[in-house]
Amino acid sequence: MTQKDSRIPGFYRLSLAARRDELRARGDLSEDDLEALARGGLDLNTADRLVENVVGIYSLPMGLGLNFRVNGRDHLVPMAVEEPSVIAAASNAARMVRAGGGFHAEADEPIMTAQVELVAAPDARRARALIEAEKDAILALANAAVPRLCERGGGARSLEVRFAEEVPGLPTRIVVHVHIDCRDAMGANLVNTVAESIAGRLADLAGGQAGLRILTNLCDRRLVRVIAPVPFAGLATPELDGARVAADIAAASRFADDDPYRAATHNKGIMNGVDAVVMATGNDWRGVEAGAHAYAASTGRYRPLGTWTVEADQLVGRLVMPMAVGTVGGTLQVHRGAQLALRILGVSSARELGMIIGCVGLASNLAALRALATEGIQRGHMALHNRATAGSLAAAGAAP
Ligand code: MEV
Repeated sequence: MTQKDSRIPGFYRLSLAARRDELRARGDLSEDDLEALARGGLDLNTADRLVENVVGIYSLPMGLGLNFRVNGRDHLVPMAVEEPSVIAAASNAARMVRAGGGFHAEADEPIMTAQVELVAAPDARRARALIEAEKDAILALANAAVPRLCERGGGARSLEVRFAEEVPGLPTRIVVHVHIDCRDAMGANLVNTVAESIAGRLADLAGGQAGLRILTNLCDRRLVRVIAPVPFAGLATPELDGARVAADIAAASRFADDDPYRAATHNKGIMNGVDAVVMATGNDWRGVEAGAHAYAASTGRYRPLGTWTVEADQLVGRLVMPMAVGTVGGTLQVHRGAQLALRILGVSSARELGMIIGCVGLASNLAALRALATEGIQRGHMALHNRATAGSLAAAGAAP
């Protein structure tokens, strides 16, 4: 898909049909693609192959996040979410960031980690030395289990032996981590395959037994980092000037830094945007959620994933979080809606997808903090909420 302008003034005022026409034109989609999107991108037979005991399909609205410019490139961002105001708020905040040149984002290499637990080893330190001495052979064994990943340029990159927290009276629990470059896959299946394929060899070396063999969702080697500069002018409200709003947003950010109760809600606002894109693109939102919150707590205290400070005449947002998402494999192989979402987004790699998701998370956070620091969240939120429930009442009225 060619690059498109993500700024479409008045898009929300268009009729649904006109919005879909606009998407078809900008997104290079066929009539058939649009029909597929209207049906949720999934048919019953495909659903029946995806999971078990299928009796239907559960749908969510998919909207377009607008105004996103990331590393100088525009993206229309498909977002699947049931909560009114999430898409409008993220689009509005992205426009404020756009006025400062847009988001700057980077992503680590797509490294996921396999964990192999080893139990009942008679001498943990000796086991560690033996495993480390065999490192190259173990990595080769790992790579032999995922030949197609290796052909695509990925594979096991390194190994480390950790001792989990000591429990008095119990032998040391050894945990071997193998770090695997998953390229454009989310990687859970690849990583679990590796964990199971090397566990026997590791247990032999340790003189113990293999315990659990599974990925960790705390994928702290697969982080995205986003910076969002926002000129004061765009933050102003009819009552407050932009500098004042920026100062109040920075104060709200410090509140989240100081108080885990507030940080949880602050991060929920970030996940509003993150999950909507993760879901639209057919990715595992439970994994992204688990990684996000484990990372948020990784210093020993639960912290905000995104923070805001005033710097010269700008408000500057920064977000760092793990991002285990893929653009190939998994649900994406069969879910037409997710395939179309990726086409609309116009990304060519999992890293690029992760960067955009991070930007949407930070935009959602900015929108929430600006509302909270000014008129409060309820006025804008309830206006959109009432619009949604008015629809449901009309539908209920029409029901027999
Ligand atoms: C609501 O979905 C999200 C917020 O609570 C986030 C926040 O408080 O920062 C508004």
